[in-house]
Amino acid sequence: MKLLVKNIKTLVQTEENPKLKVFGKDMKNLSCIENAWLAIENDKIAGFGKMDDWEGISDWTNLTIIDATDKIVMPSYCDSHTHIVYAGSREGEFVDRINGLTYEQIFERGGGILNSAKKLQEAAEEELIESALKRLNEIMWQGTGAVEIKSGYGLSTEAELKMLRVIKKLKTLTPLTIKATFLGAHAVPAEYKNDKRKYIDLLINEMMPKIAQEKLADYCDVFCEQNYFTKEETIEILTAAKKFGMTPKVHAEQLSNFGGVLAGVEVEAISVDHLEFVGDKEIEALKNSKTMPTILPGAAFFLNLPLPPARKMIDAGLPVAVASDYNPGSSPSGNMNFMLSLCCVQYKMTPEEAINAATINSAYAMDLSKTHGSIAIGKQANVFITKEIPSYAFIPYSFGSNLVETVILGGKVID
Ligand code: NIG
Ligand code: FE
Repeated sequence: MKLLVKNIKTLVQTEENPKLKVFGKDMKNLSCIENAWLAIENDKIAGFGKMDDWEGISDWTNLTIIDATDKIVMPSYCDSHTHIVYAGSREGEFVDRINGLTYEQIFERGGGILNSAKKLQEAAEEELIESALKRLNEIMWQGTGAVEIKSGYGLSTEAELKMLRVIKKLKTLTPLTIKATFLGAHAVPAEYKNDKRKYIDLLINEMMPKIAQEKLADYCDVFCEQNYFTKEETIEILTAAKKFGMTPKVHAEQLSNFGGVLAGVEVEAISVDHLEFVGDKEIEALKNSKTMPTILPGAAFFLNLPLPPARKMIDAGLPVAVASDYNPGSSPSGNMNFMLSLCCVQYKMTPEEAINAATINSAYAMDLSKTHGSIAIGKQANVFITKEIPSYAFIPYSFGSNLVETVILGGKVID
């Protein structure tokens, strides 16, 4: 199957020598080709260049041709942090927050993550698959081509395994690339409230062996926060997870400066996410690490939190990734176009920095930057074509619009 996209106004994020991530000043660079062509063979990118130089790939006959005059082609977004498998919604808590309750207060009275856990424990697998597929379809049409999905609304062995099996099934039902994360340490379930030790033992001694045996998770994540898991507990859980073949990730510094970043760096987490309360100490620690600082502007926006210091991190020479955190409590949207708008407007990131954060750097945060996150020969042909727009900066500029017109995943044009 051969596909040629021709007359592309701007082909964005092209790479001759693919990198695994971009950091510091380099985040301002976004390599693009004006008036370009892009060739796809089977599921891979086969070539690209300027229309002026198009001599054809000699034996290219029987091609499907898409004319992209006045349109922009982007590598699909990589959304490296979501909780897209869940049951029910939580707009009641949204209204409670408008009326003055905080996210923490809602959790303390048994809402929040525990509210979602109760609903998920009662939901059938089929029902979870069906609702998650709808959300996956929604984000696919907003330009996302790869997504990480976490468990963490199960909070019992049975329900965590159910969530992870649902994620495994989703991989076979959608053209999106999916990575799975075990987030049993998302909250302490009510029945273990006075015996957190027992719950941690359950995570390590009962859940992890089963997850490893069924190969259900690539990553293990912990919500490191007051009233959830301490820095020491985070390190303990993630060190155990590594022995079971899961790479660490951390929900870090979201509601307070609580040690999540330092824990993540210590266990060589692939990413630390949220970062609202990151300070100089955390920035220093990240400098000598392989850990990707990841901002989740949807959650900071929706919970009205202080903003993570993205500008400061980039200016300090760090890479930054952006993800949606799509979940029913703190970010009920997986729209990466809107995340780009938030990056630009609220975080003072340039469109180039925001696009780097949402493509190559977020691919890195899910171990996909060798195959995803840019237009490079041999990479997975996951791209989207926009409607007719004047420039790529028009995407974050026109917040709230969906400018994605054609989605190509694994080399196939999606109906
Ligand atoms: O990433 N912070 C912890 N976990 C989620 C929220 C989960 C929820 O409220 O359901 C987050 O924001
Ligand atoms: Fe999250």
